[in-house]
Amino acid sequence: MKVGIVGAGMVGSSAGFALAIAGYASEIVFVEKNEALAVAQAEDISHAVPFMSATRVRAGGYRDLKDAGIIVLSAGVSQRPGETRIELLERNAVVIRSILGEILAVVPDPILLVASNPVDVITHIAVSMSGLPPQRIIGSGTILDTARFRSLLARHMEISPQSIPAFVIGEHGDSEVLVWSGAVAGSADLLSFAAQLGRPVTEDIRQAIDHDVRNAAYRIIEGKGATYYGIGAGIARIVKAITRDEGALLSVSTLTGHVAGIDNVTLSLPRVIGARGITADLLPDLAGSELEALQRSARLLKDLSNSLGL
Ligand code: 2OP
Repeated sequence: MKVGIVGAGMVGSSAGFALAIAGYASEIVFVEKNEALAVAQAEDISHAVPFMSATRVRAGGYRDLKDAGIIVLSAGVSQRPGETRIELLERNAVVIRSILGEILAVVPDPILLVASNPVDVITHIAVSMSGLPPQRIIGSGTILDTARFRSLLARHMEISPQSIPAFVIGEHGDSEVLVWSGAVAGSADLLSFAAQLGRPVTEDIRQAIDHDVRNAAYRIIEGKGATYYGIGAGIARIVKAITRDEGALLSVSTLTGHVAGIDNVTLSLPRVIGARGITADLLPDLAGSELEALQRSARLLKDLSNSLGL
């Protein structure tokens, strides 16, 4: 499948790199307002390809997106140190609105993978502007926060992150909700498994993991200016679920009819993803405090979308 990546900065190029080395796409086309950047990213990534896969990688204009099955939206500004994702909204809403029109004129029925921040509200804009079914407009959402949660749990428990199906839901941002109550390993409750391993998750450890997941992006941006490898691999993971029609359960964002008492809100839940996009949503069983946190997160996102008239 041909994949278009609109926005060839660090996030878009990392997604392209992850896709190319994994061989999840037959062709990758970078479109970017800075054409020289797109050409350079495509050329650099194409030099990695002979080691790993047979993906064709090139730069082009919007018309070169024709016949792409998936378009990744990774354009727009990213956070400066200390800045929240929500503070990017005004600037990125303008960018995304102008880009979307160009994309849809060439590819009327793509699956759109939105990565630009604040990803939930930008995804909502994409749904309302495109008129496409929400199942085809997938925000990367908390796929990354979920990976961060699993990676920290794995490090603490000294088992692999793939063995810990724990999820982060809600906003991809400060109000996100780590679903501790439903976290498992094997068929055991995660906390009981951790205790059996002799690596108990004490209240202090739980708070430290919560803090480190929620603040990961701030920490990384402070240290190196931006985050991109994690989200690049997360985007590649979603593409794989689509191109291989996996029916994979991934935490991603889209417009959701009703969640936590709020209608028409765009946030992340575990969702089933295959060739047609999102085919099912899952609302995990939540502890009372988690449900309250999800309600707060949904309310915040709903208010932001309302403020844009969505
Ligand atoms: C991240 O969480 C900044 O949203 C980006 O890494």
